[in-house]
Formats: sequence, structure tokens, C-alpha cells
Amino acid sequence: MHKKITVVGAGNVGTTTAQLIAGKNLADVVLIDVIEGIPQGKALDIQQACPLWHSSARVTGTNNYEDTANSDIVVITAGLARKPGMSRDDLLKANADIIKEVAEKIAHTCPKAIVIVVTNPMDAMTHLTQKITTFPFHRVIGMGGVLDSARMRTFIALELGVSPRDVQAIVLGGHGDLMVPLLRFTTIGGKNIADILPASKIEEIIERTKNGGAEIVGLLKTGSAYYAPAASVVEMIETIFGFKNDLLPCSVYLNGEYGVKGVYSGVPVELSSRGVEKVIELELTEDEKQAFIKSAEAVRGLVKKIGG
Ligand code: 2OP
Repeated sequence: MHKKITVVGAGNVGTTTAQLIAGKNLADVVLIDVIEGIPQGKALDIQQACPLWHSSARVTGTNNYEDTANSDIVVITAGLARKPGMSRDDLLKANADIIKEVAEKIAHTCPKAIVIVVTNPMDAMTHLTQKITTFPFHRVIGMGGVLDSARMRTFIALELGVSPRDVQAIVLGGHGDLMVPLLRFTTIGGKNIADILPASKIEEIIERTKNGGAEIVGLLKTGSAYYAPAASVVEMIETIFGFKNDLLPCSVYLNGEYGVKGVYSGVPVELSSRGVEKVIELELTEDEKQAFIKSAEAVRGLVKKIGG
């Protein structure tokens, strides 16, 4: 019996996520959007690729939330994407309205689902989703750190001409300009990055990681990244389903961990079929801790602006 995953938003991120889920035969997929025809057409197209992927996934497009009923996981990608020159925070008010509507509906149709939020500004939208659905905190998770860490690994691997498989990196904090790449935990073939690259190059990689989303928005002009965000969501789904078991940096509700209480921010977590199984507390230096708190407090400020 296949699991069921609803993807809200048939834009680039949502559709690519649906394609990956179906292509990996992870679950049946319901792709929902407000625009008539778009989710139905994209879902039918993905469905017609399934024979070639040896996938038995059923892929459905709809405008009707009743079709999402009893999904195991709901991925929320609905919302406006950045335009060149915009920060993720500039999307706050417009996307908060969209998230409120989506969260109300999935709370009704998918009361037991784990929710993965992608919509930006992601940490604040995740906080809002939990508030509106009133789902337990461990079932409402934001996708940001997996993407930011993948970007940092990519830039290091490209710089050194090595496989990204040999590069470990973790980025904590909010999925925004104040994200916190942890250099002490960044290794290549087990060696710390500081023993391999000069400080100037490391700083360049950190800045490029922080601007990773904006760099793609600037190139595309008409929207934001979607292949790596979708792959990051699917990494979380595969871990929730138990097909993978790495610790992942996800935006979760903090209740005192890392010195932060009452707000969502990116920390290493164990994911399981219940959602967030456990927050892993790394020993941070005072500088790292202050950077993390600053990043989390910026999210709290956004949440306050939308009455969270
Ligand atoms: C990004 O960083 C869309 O926030 C996402 O590209």
C-alpha cells in the first residue's frame, strides 16, 4: 500500500518535488494548485513518465482539497517567489496570506500529516503553518538547512575538484541572510576545511552559500531555484520514511535548545515517521551561539509582524 503525499503548489518547486517522489516510487502524489488545469496537466505528464521509471506511483492533479484527504505528508510550496533584488523576507505578508489559507485546509483534510514547509520566508511560514494547523510541533518542519548545506558542499567540491560525497558541511539557523555555516564541522575527506583552504576562499564560499538562492534568482530573473530545493525536500521525505537515516538540518520549533525558545530555526535533527524525533545539540562556540541566536531572533521578528 503506497503512502500518500500531497504537494501544495504546482509551480517549479512543487512540480519538481512531485516528479522526484513519483520517479523514486516513494508514494502516490496529489499535486494541488488554485489554477485550473495546471496541476492536472503536470500530474498527468509525470504519470505518463512512470512506466519508464518503473514506478507504480499514482500521480493526481487537482484544485480540490478533498482529493488530499489523509495524506501522510504534505509539502507546502505555494506562494510567490522572489524577483531579482528581493530578499526572502520581502515575501512575508503576501505569502503569509497564502499559507493561512493552505494551512486551514490541510488541517481539515490531512489531520495526521507531517507537514514540510518550503514557502519563503520559510522559518516564519513554518511557524505560521504550525499555529494555524495546531499540529504538534514535531509534525511541522521547514526545509532550508538541507538546501543551504548542499549548496555549501557544492561550492567546496567545485573549488577543490572533489566529489561532494567527500564534503561534509552543515548550515544552521534561519534560511535567510543570517544563516550560520558551521566551519568547525565542515570537512573534506575528514580534514577540516581550515586545513585545506585559505580563510579568504572560505569566506567567499560562505558568502556564496548565503546568497545561493539570490544568485539563482538573479540568473533566472523570473523565479527562484527549484531542482535543489525539491531534492532537499525529497531527502527529508526519504528520511521520514526510513529509507535514509542521516541527521539533517531542518527548521524545527525550539523549546530552549541552542539557547532559543519559542521560534523555528534550523538545527540538526533526527527525522522519523513521527516527524522530528530528536533535536541534536552540538557544542557551539560563543561566536557560533551568538550568530545562531541572532538568526533565530530575526525569524521571531518576522513572526511578530504577521501576528504569529
Ligand atoms: C532558495 O534558497 C527557494 O529559498 C529557496 O533557493
